[in-house]
Amino acid sequence: MANSIDVLAVVGSLRRESYTRRLVQAVAALAPPSLRIEIASGVGELPLYNQDLDTAAPPAAWVAFRERIRRADGILFATPEYNRSMPGVLKNAIDVGSRPYGKSAWARKPTAVISASPGQMGAFGANQHLRQCLVFLDMPALQQPEAYIGGVDKLFDASGQISNPGTRQLCEKFLTAFAEWIKRQNG
Ligand code: FNR
Repeated sequence: MANSIDVLAVVGSLRRESYTRRLVQAVAALAPPSLRIEIASGVGELPLYNQDLDTAAPPAAWVAFRERIRRADGILFATPEYNRSMPGVLKNAIDVGSRPYGKSAWARKPTAVISASPGQMGAFGANQHLRQCLVFLDMPALQQPEAYIGGVDKLFDASGQISNPGTRQLCEKFLTAFAEWIKRQNG
């Protein structure tokens, strides 16, 4: 691991004004210089996973995404909630990173999950569904603090910072715990 911890954030919304992406940007701004959070690009351009395409020459977008995951010290999954689960775009990204069988780019990558919704439950259902995948992917997942961010549509001030002091504090605790978790897992 280099001097600073490289965290790849995989955001489960393609919406231009996505609250989930804004949340990750606000959280990244709270991180100490020793923790760099980069939002994965091109998640929406990953062809839908199809085993027939996973040959010796898979789609270039898959290859680039898998390589970016491999370079990361840790993975932050940030999910909105669609019908009490994660959006398909995020599930597709997870599936693409997980194959070919036995060569999953996710394997053993320390991870954490943050979920957000305008609703009060903070996308709890999506967060928990996503965690179920992490077990099979063999990704050691941060357990505490859990981050279910409700009322996300009213969370940001004009400059995009988290305006609610309680939520800001939770995000800071989350970042500290995640950095420690990554260090511990990666030795
Ligand atoms: C939603 N939304 C939603 N919200 C929620 O709290 N629980 C849910 O199960 C759902 N289901 C759902 C399904 C679909 C298809 C859409 C489009 C939306 C509302 C959702 O939280 C809201 O659109 C957020 O703004 C989506 O996150 P981003 O795009 O702002 O990051």
